[in-house]
Amino acid sequence: MEVSANTPAVVTGGASGLGEATARALAAKGAKVAIFDLQKEKGEAVAADIGGTFCEVNVTDDASVDAGFEKARAAHGQERILINCAGTGNAIKTAKRDRKTGEISHFPMDAFNFIIQINLVGTFRCIAKSAAGMMTLDPLSEDGDRGAIVNTASVAGEDGQIGQAAYSASKGGVIGMTLPIARDLMNEGIRVNTILPGIFNTPLMNAAPPQVKEALAASVPFPKRLGNAEEYAHLAMTMVENGYFNGEDVRLDGSIRMAPR
Ligand SMILES: NC(=O)c1ccc[n+]([C@@H]2O[C@H](COP(=O)([O-])OP(=O)(O)OC[C@H]3O[C@@H](n4cnc5c(N)ncnc54)[C@H](O)[C@@H]3O)[C@@H](O)[C@H]2O)c1
Repeated sequence: MEVSANTPAVVTGGASGLGEATARALAAKGAKVAIFDLQKEKGEAVAADIGGTFCEVNVTDDASVDAGFEKARAAHGQERILINCAGTGNAIKTAKRDRKTGEISHFPMDAFNFIIQINLVGTFRCIAKSAAGMMTLDPLSEDGDRGAIVNTASVAGEDGQIGQAAYSASKGGVIGMTLPIARDLMNEGIRVNTILPGIFNTPLMNAAPPQVKEALAASVPFPKRLGNAEEYAHLAMTMVENGYFNGEDVRLDGSIRMAPR
């Protein structure tokens, strides 16, 4: 699908990092981008910079997502592109023994559910509501192309590290649902693909001390550095623009395979 002037698009998590880079890449091609994010100030600044619209949306909240789509569609028209980047993680062991006190505890269920609700259920909520909207559009090509959806999983969905049970479960869920969603939407001309980023240089990662970032960069086979958000955006744009790209889960990781810790 060609991204041309005024193509309406929605980017969740578009106020920062991978989502922001993709919102900018879409806007550079003339797309009208609505940013769904919790971060009002940053989201408004990015939207103003790219001539888009900021929608204060919590992807875990059904009414909030509905209101976001309503605002985005009123401003730009029904979106043909949805990029799902809203997400977060935590690091807690399934069960652990305190080295000093010997006290045993387990992963709190609310902390597990919190991550699943944002990364997995939130992604599915946006996909389902966006796909229903895209189905009202006329097809763009002889193939019947109506729209394209890109999701963000993680290499942790395949090789999760110690403490990543919730994060890996949420991202594994995104990987697993990509093909059945592509099949659900195949007669409607809506394609769905998922990116599994390795370690990317985003505000999420900037929180880590420099020596940790250096060690992470050294652990990447090639190139020996963290990924740039623009490299993520480049693949997201390819998934949108290449009409034969569908139902795929693609690692973008410098061939890293994560060790247990
Ligand atoms: N940076 C990495 O190395 C990396 C690696 C693998 C996967 N990912 C995934 O990529 C995605 C983007 O991460 P990033 O590195 O750009 O992080 P980021 O923190 O820079 O951006 C994530 C954005 O999502 C928003 N967000 C979080 N919860 C939300 C909610 N409930 N509703 C709406 N918006 C919400 C945040 O406000 C933030 O602006 C995440 O899903 C993350 O898990 C990142």
